[in-house]
Amino acid sequence: KVRGRFGPLIGSIDEGTSSTRFLIFSANTAEVLTYHQLPITHITPKEGWVEQDPCVILQSVIETINVTCDNLKKLDIDPVDIVAVGITNQRETTVVWDSKTGKPLYNALVWLDMRTSTTVDKILLNGKRNKNFLKPLCGLPVSTYFSAVKLRWLMDNVEEVQVAIKENRCMFGTIDTWLIWNLTGGINGGLHITDVTNASRTMLMNIDTLQWDPQLCKVFGIPINILPTIKSSSEIYGYLSESVLCGVPISGCLGDQQAALVGQMCFHQGQAKSTYGTGCFLLYNTGTVIVQSSHGLLTTIAYQLGPNKPAFYALEGSVAVAGVAMQWLHDNLEILEHAKDSGEIAQGVDKVGEVSFVPAFSGLYAPYWRKDARSVICGLTEETKPAHLIKAALESVAFQTRDILEAMALDCGYPLSKLLVDGGMTANNYLMQIQADYCGIPVVRPLMTETTALGAAIAAGYASGVEVWDLENIQSVSSDVFTPAITENQRDMKYARWKMAIARSLDWADD
Ligand code: G3P
Repeated sequence: KVRGRFGPLIGSIDEGTSSTRFLIFSANTAEVLTYHQLPITHITPKEGWVEQDPCVILQSVIETINVTCDNLKKLDIDPVDIVAVGITNQRETTVVWDSKTGKPLYNALVWLDMRTSTTVDKILLNGKRNKNFLKPLCGLPVSTYFSAVKLRWLMDNVEEVQVAIKENRCMFGTIDTWLIWNLTGGINGGLHITDVTNASRTMLMNIDTLQWDPQLCKVFGIPINILPTIKSSSEIYGYLSESVLCGVPISGCLGDQQAALVGQMCFHQGQAKSTYGTGCFLLYNTGTVIVQSSHGLLTTIAYQLGPNKPAFYALEGSVAVAGVAMQWLHDNLEILEHAKDSGEIAQGVDKVGEVSFVPAFSGLYAPYWRKDARSVICGLTEETKPAHLIKAALESVAFQTRDILEAMALDCGYPLSKLLVDGGMTANNYLMQIQADYCGIPVVRPLMTETTALGAAIAAGYASGVEVWDLENIQSVSSDVFTPAITENQRDMKYARWKMAIARSLDWADD
């Protein structure tokens, strides 16, 4: 069939922690033709609790699809050229719903949510078990971050969930699963599936067999029958029955950080990327080999591009707070009107009164994995101004990334020679420069920074039966490169100060 002037098009649903987007890519050029974005609000009923309404998320997806298709028409492009849709999503966020009514049984527990602190303690028998005791099976330490403890909390604390499980009408899913079930029919035969990358973030999937692991399910007391079927990241799962794109196949699904790895074309062992969004996540492709970290990194599935293709693995350094820190300066301290101005403000700060800020709002993730760590701001003087805090917040993102790179070099035996970056915060040139300065390696930012959505589009377009995306043909376009511009000595002194601040954050522990 002859297609429009951009060739076959792929739609990409990117449901992140802070917003939902739907983007249209040309499969011929990997260009974004148009998109629509809607913000997603966080519900914070108590300190440390972060929820979202699953129905709001679903509606936002349908609306962004519909508006984007209207945009396409305005560009004189026919939405009929959309041959497939891919999904990428915030990972770990946990939804339970009623298979009979289709209604959520509770709000989604967002990955950042800390309410499961005592659930974690119970699983760890109050310190008698090592937090890494399940790592050989699932690659992850026991932490508030992952879905299994969130599901356990829901089963322990929400009567509707208990009753629905007893009556065999409870369904569990991460955001990909919730969306795919609803978009393919919901109570009228929706598909209850997930992909290997999302499943690998639940703590319930065995990273070797790529199946739900009975032993893991037993530790958390999770009935296997409420879990979705695990699929590869690239295959025709089913067809949209909602939105203006009814009948279009859904053929790609990846957790957002894994999607960015694909979008950055990191298909070879040894390639790595870091994505700066709500949090910041560095993934290092270890090929088809499972590498267990001894330095606080996660072992996770990178992608599996087809049911008969091998799974690729990654080491991941997860940082909970990146964009969140900017949001906090805006919402809570009210000292930063627009996050995009933060670089310019930080640039203007003089050396006097250097401040360190460890934003441990969700405890500290990799490489520390200390849910009891607390945020600290050190080095305040009478001269400290809001700009110092803004600079310190940006530095915290760069230093946390350095922490991850240190751990990665120890696990891999050699340091990374360059860092590929993407995500919203990479538009901040100041941050990119200090990232290069503090890590001592070039930071490479592609001109096309929509790599997360691109990754899902690639998976969808590559799937057997769609086959409009040739992995060989599309190379990543040219990039901006930030090279280190401070001396080794300056770098070491700055990092030593950061480590002192980290020590104080860990010392604050009260449990
Ligand atoms: O693991 C959480 C991660 O998937 C969230 O990504 O882009 O919403 O910060 P993001």
